[in-house]
Amino acid sequence: MTDADQSLSVRDNRTGKDYTLEITDGTLRAADFAKIRTDEDEPGLALYDPGFTNTASCRSAVTFIDGEKGILEYRGYPIEQLAEKSTFLEVAYLLIYGELPSKEQYEQWVHEITYHTFVHENVKGFMHGFRYDAHPMGMLMASVGALSTFYPESNDIKDADNRHLQIVRMIAKMPTLGAWAFRHAQGKPFVYPDNELSYTENFLSMLFRMSEQSYAADPRIAKALDVLFILHADHEQNCSTNAVRSVGSSQVDPYSSVAAGVAALYGPLHGGANEAVLKMLRRIGSKENIPDFIQGVKDGDERLMGFGHRVYKNYDPRAKIIKKACDDVFEVTGVNPLLEIAQELEKIALEDDYFVQRKLYPNVDFYSGLIYEALSFPPEMFTVLFAIGRTPGWLAQWLELVQDKEQKIARPKQIYTGDRTVDFVPREERWA
Ligand code: CMC
Repeated sequence: MTDADQSLSVRDNRTGKDYTLEITDGTLRAADFAKIRTDEDEPGLALYDPGFTNTASCRSAVTFIDGEKGILEYRGYPIEQLAEKSTFLEVAYLLIYGELPSKEQYEQWVHEITYHTFVHENVKGFMHGFRYDAHPMGMLMASVGALSTFYPESNDIKDADNRHLQIVRMIAKMPTLGAWAFRHAQGKPFVYPDNELSYTENFLSMLFRMSEQSYAADPRIAKALDVLFILHADHEQNCSTNAVRSVGSSQVDPYSSVAAGVAALYGPLHGGANEAVLKMLRRIGSKENIPDFIQGVKDGDERLMGFGHRVYKNYDPRAKIIKKACDDVFEVTGVNPLLEIAQELEKIALEDDYFVQRKLYPNVDFYSGLIYEALSFPPEMFTVLFAIGRTPGWLAQWLELVQDKEQKIARPKQIYTGDRTVDFVPREERWA
């Protein structure tokens, strides 16, 4: 029975028939439209939504976003509070298990992750096989996927203990793989994890340690990186999370699903945007060139990278926190000269009708690249940092997916626009 208040009445003008469709949580079930058909032999109505701009693919309790108001919450906790008071590993636990850990749970979680940071020695071998100039995201994507071959039991996705073990392994090993991809490009020896260090300090050690006995990162830098990881940890049904869920819906192991997420994140419209922002700022070169650049954007010849978002029609709350983090990092490293251009660009864009009307504001990628560059990361590494931060979110969403009884293998419909029933003409006749 449909509650009359929570329903939609529609008339199919092709047949004159009336239908009542149930509304649940502000959505209609796409499957209900299939009941609307001109005759019994015809397929029913389907919905056409390229880019899923208005289609919910799942129910999720992981992350809440109100794009109009600029609100982001993980499991109900505001991102501002998590960034200020929590740690990345605590946030990872929160995302995955739905609640903040007790003292014992936290210590156990940190211990488990710390002791799974090492990878099989053979991983070194295949990482060395990449070309000297291989993009680290390509290396990360391949090596995360390859982990499934080291842990074949990971395809037993129905076993909760097994899932937990793979989740721990993946969060633990992502920094190792990311750091080794970086060292490979530099022609430097790989640095093994140091289990005496925190998650972020260990990552910095694997990136930058040379001959010293142990690497001591500046605590302000380690903290800033930890905050950046927190800010990137989840963002509900974005492109890469959708990729993880879509691939995971085939019930493949979590390493293969996360490799799909890394692949999606690699693209310049998603995680690759922070790299593109730096290139853009460098190309603009100085404040005097900003008006010409903005004109190019308005003429459709350029895109203002790091601006605009599918969901946020207000200032991205993560961009606000990152802008503040810039100050802490630049106190240690000195100011990035591109900051001046970025700030001026933001000021001009936020006053310009083109951006105001389209509600285009700075997103998470606008300022993060400036920090990463100040921390001595080359632009190719920026998306790797995003991927390390996003891993708990991908895994939380994957875990939710595999336990959701309503989920099925992802398989959208299409509107076929090609030819039908064309007789094949053999080559001799076609080429005669
Ligand atoms: N510069 C100039 N115009 C823009 C921009 C931009 N950065 N973003 C959107 N627009 C325009 C777009 O041309 C369109 O104009 P019109 O209505 O005249 O055709 C209008 O604004 C709506 O844009 P859209 O392309 O329909 O929006 P979308 O939701 O499909 O795309 C987006 C969202 C993030 C891909 C897009 O804003 C963009 O390309 N931004 C630059 C890349 C970027 O910074 N990406 C990082 C996103 S945040 C981190 C992440 O998710 O990875």
